[in-house]
Amino acid sequence: MIEVSPIPAVNVSAVPQRSLLRYPGGKTWLIPHIRVWLRAMKRPRLLVEPFAGGGIVSLTAVMENLAEESLMAELDKDVAALWKAALYFGPDLANRISSFTLTRDSVVELSCQPPADVVEHGFRTLVLNRTRRGGVLAHGASFTRKGENGAGIASRWYPKTIIRRLRAIAEVAPRITFHETDGMQMLASILDKPHEDVALFIDPPYTGAGGKRAGKRLYAHNDVDHARLFSLLAESNAHFLMTYDRSLEIESLIETHGFHAVQVVMKSGHHTLLPELVITRNPTFAKVKSLA
Ligand SMILES: C[S@@+](CC[C@H](N)C(=O)[O-])C[C@H]1O[C@@H](n2cnc3c(N)ncnc32)[C@H](O)[C@@H]1O
Repeated sequence: MIEVSPIPAVNVSAVPQRSLLRYPGGKTWLIPHIRVWLRAMKRPRLLVEPFAGGGIVSLTAVMENLAEESLMAELDKDVAALWKAALYFGPDLANRISSFTLTRDSVVELSCQPPADVVEHGFRTLVLNRTRRGGVLAHGASFTRKGENGAGIASRWYPKTIIRRLRAIAEVAPRITFHETDGMQMLASILDKPHEDVALFIDPPYTGAGGKRAGKRLYAHNDVDHARLFSLLAESNAHFLMTYDRSLEIESLIETHGFHAVQVVMKSGHHTLLPELVITRNPTFAKVKSLA
């Protein structure tokens, strides 16, 4: 039996949008849980996000001073280029954004050319993320057709808003470290050292026991050994918060390791109810009512 979290999933418009990416599986809706968890830890020294994606948790933790610093890892080279460009070459990326005229032809041209440097690569990721359906970057994703209000391919391209977010990221960039690396390896090496004042936010790609879940379609990298991940955490005393789609496989891992979970029911873009699990070592979120 998994309790329903007393903290509801927020509508994403109710929390500050800080990421540059529209990330499939993005966790903006989870931010109220993240705030409760990190406040209970009394501002950890380091927030680690080994499967960073759109990085909303790292950005929020640092910008709201819920953690001193953050460390992000991402294996996807396109997503990694975006973070490197944003964190280390913010003004160059902003110039590239403001001088670009987005049309179907300019996007197609950009997507065909191998990027000359990391700024160009990050810029390409940003444009493709904002012009492809659902923000999906994985191979085979198609372009937005009608887009918002029939505005077509440019319907999610808001250069001023993106540059404003980029400036906010540049202000906290000295407190964020990014590595293009395997999040599992990074996690293992963090857990090998003392990690009392470290908070781990873990949101791996999940393909589900039957291999049919979203992870395969949404992300180029989706092969994570979930049983090993749970064992690594169980063998440590790390403070962690993990999220997963609800499934029997994950419920069984939670039970095996004596972890705690609450479920959060959220609406997807198509208004179906998708239960997501929020998993911690100790019962961080008070229980209200139960669901079978
Ligand atoms: C569910 S998404 C994370 C979404 C993120 N929490 C957000 O709010 O935007 C999982 C991410 O993990 C990345 N990934 C997959 N395997 C990885 C690995 N072994 N190491 C690091 N990142 C990986 C995927 O490319 C994807 O961006």
